[in-house]
Amino acid sequence: MQSAPGVLPVNLGIIMDGNGRWAKRRFLPRSLGHDAGMKRIVKLVDSVRAAGIKYLTLYALSTENLSRPQEELDGLYVLFRRYFEEYAPRLVESDVEIRIIGDLSALPQDVAEKMTAVCARSKKDAAFHLVFAVNYGGRAEIVRAANLAAEMGGKVTEENFSRFLYTWGIPDPDMIIRTGGELRLSNFLLWQSAYSELYFTDTLFPDFDEKELGRALREYARRNRRFGRV
Ligand code: IPE
Ligand code: IPE
Ligand code: MG
Repeated sequence: MQSAPGVLPVNLGIIMDGNGRWAKRRFLPRSLGHDAGMKRIVKLVDSVRAAGIKYLTLYALSTENLSRPQEELDGLYVLFRRYFEEYAPRLVESDVEIRIIGDLSALPQDVAEKMTAVCARSKKDAAFHLVFAVNYGGRAEIVRAANLAAEMGGKVTEENFSRFLYTWGIPDPDMIIRTGGELRLSNFLLWQSAYSELYFTDTLFPDFDEKELGRALREYARRNRRFGRV
């Protein structure tokens, strides 16, 4: 689905980077950085919704992140369990649709099941949509879609191809924020980001507060989205 011009992004994507460095600066283990990151997610979801944005897409775990030490991954799974037990069900009750994009089959079975169960209880016509990219990779998503399209047969168009992506039904991200200072997409929404406004900040994700969000949204409102036109 094409991005929409406007003062507010319809779909805001965030590459939540910098948890490890946040912890390191405090001489803490990386796991506590992820812990702080999760606390930040909880607050940010409220701030983004309150700002009037309809879709928030959060990059929680890349396919490449699965090659991190098992100890770090286990710590992340503990947080996923907690989020999907404590926070996500409450969000669903307050008119939020939760959706996962990515391949859950590589996650511990109970984590995958918790996530799937919460998503299944979500209403598609909710007031706010929260999308988590988990074991997500943009290239893998495109290859998967290409295989599905080949199985269907017939001519591939941009429109029908996008139906095979994980994000079918979700508007393309109008803006992608990356925290943590790196200037790259790291395999996030490669197809969908064709016309996304990119915003990079050195702020580490656990420090990305409402003020930082406001700064990013003001910058978005100043951008001139031409979509190739004059
Ligand atoms: C991002 O923070 C969170 C995940 C990738 C799960 P990092 O863990 O990449 O933090 P840095 O980049 O090492 O600081
Ligand atoms: C990108 O962060 C993935 C997520 C934020 C989930 P990384 O820390 O994995 O990215 P690289 O390795 O610096 O590109
Ligand atoms: Mg990182």
